[in-house]
Amino acid sequence: MQHINITDDIYFLGYNDRRTHLFENIWPIPFGISYNSYLIRDEKIALIDTVERSFIDEYLENIEEIIGDREIDYLVINHMEPDHSGALKAIVQKYPDIILVGNKKTFGFVENFYMKPEHVLLVQDGSILELGKHRLQFQTIPMVHWPETMVTYEETNKILFAGDAFGSYGTLDGGVFDDEINLEFYEVEVMRYFTNIVGKYCPHTQRAIHKLDPFDIKMIAATHGPVWRSDLQWILTRYNKWSSYDLDQGVVIVYGSMYGHTQEMAEVIARRLAERGIKNIRVYDASKTHTSYIINDIFKYKGFIVGSPAYNNSLFPNVQVLLSTIEHMAPKNHYLGIFGNYSWNGGGVKNLKVFAENIKWELVYDPVEEQGSLKKENKTQLIDLADAMADKLLAV
Ligand code: FEO
Repeated sequence: MQHINITDDIYFLGYNDRRTHLFENIWPIPFGISYNSYLIRDEKIALIDTVERSFIDEYLENIEEIIGDREIDYLVINHMEPDHSGALKAIVQKYPDIILVGNKKTFGFVENFYMKPEHVLLVQDGSILELGKHRLQFQTIPMVHWPETMVTYEETNKILFAGDAFGSYGTLDGGVFDDEINLEFYEVEVMRYFTNIVGKYCPHTQRAIHKLDPFDIKMIAATHGPVWRSDLQWILTRYNKWSSYDLDQGVVIVYGSMYGHTQEMAEVIARRLAERGIKNIRVYDASKTHTSYIINDIFKYKGFIVGSPAYNNSLFPNVQVLLSTIEHMAPKNHYLGIFGNYSWNGGGVKNLKVFAENIKWELVYDPVEEQGSLKKENKTQLIDLADAMADKLLAV
């Protein structure tokens, strides 16, 4: 990719990855992802984060196109995850006098992942680094997304170099700034990046939002996705809503099903919810839809109903994967319903009850468990379950 000016002397160095199938080798990225680094050219030159290692050659060439044979004085490490620190070692090898800028958590990570750094500048909340006409201020935002994570606020142009915060899946297909792209396309990818990567750390994200509130921010330059410069409220309000578990009226129904009986139970519930006036109903087959997408809707809607047949005396494996992800991320403020099929020895509903105990969401109705094909008695129970969920949602 070409380097692009975000101001007269601050450059966007972003690289589109359309080859990787799974981000972190877990999360599907059918629309790819960008890795964004930034360069400030002043009396001193500073890089803000680097890029994933497969882009090192192009990255070094682009930097040289901007600064010629000048040296880079500082590498600010906002976040050490290798999608951003992948070129760190190459940068240090090419610019051996470069000073690495980080907080008390950063340099241990540098040593663990790459090498013992020779030149470092230790910063803390409020520390200032003068580059000439640009002044950088640092603020830690731990766990958004790792413990060492910080942001860098450039005071002259009021730019927040935000690391993962406010980032997005999806490559930048020509457009780099929020006013150059169709945000409708990015909305799902922004949210999936948030829920998949940062979603476990919502309380930390809330703390970061409040910590940054006093700063006058005109531009947000994240390490993935668009640079936000025209409508910052678009991204800020969404981050605030998602990280505070402010959920909409709606229900996510997820089932595992080998021969259709548990699916049939899900369909009964979904139909009744629709009859009761619930418009946002998302029904997912856990074997078909990746957890990445399902968890996204769980961060959107207040109702969650899950069904599993017994599978070798346990949960259906793909339902198990989803539920362990939910337990790991532990989103809050949900209503829960559970159902399933006993099959020949039970284990589905039995383990859904364990999930219910662990996640501590309000169970709106007793678990409904069928044996084999759906019969009248349990169909009635499923309708009652759907009614109980609808009552809760409509009462809000
Ligand atoms: Fe984009 Fe937490 O790294």
